[in-house]
Amino acid sequence: MVLVSAKEMIEKAHEGHYAIPAFNTNNLEWTKCILTAVEQAKSPVIIQASEGAAKYMGGYKMVVDMVKDLHDSMGITVPVALHLDHGTYEGAKKCIDAGFTSVMFDGSHYDFEENMAKSKEIISLAHSVGVSVECEVGGIGGTEDGVTSNGELADPAECKAIAELGVDFLAAGIGNIHGKYPANWAGLNFDRLNEINEAVNGKPLVLHGGSGIPFDQTSKAITMGVSKINVNTELQLVFAEATAKYCAEGKHNEGKGYDPRKLLKPGCDAIVAKAIELCEAFGSANKA
Ligand code: 13P
Repeated sequence: MVLVSAKEMIEKAHEGHYAIPAFNTNNLEWTKCILTAVEQAKSPVIIQASEGAAKYMGGYKMVVDMVKDLHDSMGITVPVALHLDHGTYEGAKKCIDAGFTSVMFDGSHYDFEENMAKSKEIISLAHSVGVSVECEVGGIGGTEDGVTSNGELADPAECKAIAELGVDFLAAGIGNIHGKYPANWAGLNFDRLNEINEAVNGKPLVLHGGSGIPFDQTSKAITMGVSKINVNTELQLVFAEATAKYCAEGKHNEGKGYDPRKLLKPGCDAIVAKAIELCEAFGSANKA
């Protein structure tokens, strides 16, 4: 099976009241771990890369080839989409050309008219070649330079306007933020989610900043139209913690513990375990 667009898997999730996990990849190991986890959990998956991560990995084509080749050589049977995360206007176009099966165009930093115009263009281009599209309304807060901003709340009228352009799924701020949540985080704003869900008339919604949101909140959000949940930080954290523990115990000094295949194994095992746990929590396990 080849890589698929994310449209069908997300629509099925929306109807079935579960969410597709969208895990960010950063390298070969991450990609293998994600594929291992979803094959074990029997979950459809969106593997996504930011423009920065794609550059780190050697470019968009490299990412496409890596995911396709691993998918084949690992004999993966669950549906896998390859998605650009927070794409620019130029980046989205390049990824459509390079063979990504899904792209996010994040025009949230433009004024709304320009976001609409550019979203419309990317949607039409992507759909002409069977690629699914995510757009974003309003910003999503997060930590930059050590300062954590509050999660933003998207305007339901703007969400409605972008949904009507024919986007396949829509990211809208409901108090969620990227990165670690501060101790005094107010939680997801379900009143705003309800207003947005009503405004978009059945369009699947995307929850960014999925790391560390209590599962009772993600489950409630799924009942209110969220059908894709993005997770990056949480996989990075479990990887870093497991690797740090391995080194703190001096295992990198035992035998050939410094061999990357040994050194990275505890972190990789931790990613696989966390990704399986998230598939179960989001309800996507056994839905492939
Ligand atoms: P986290 O890093 O907070 O999990 O957010 C991931 C994300 O939303 C990517 O777009």
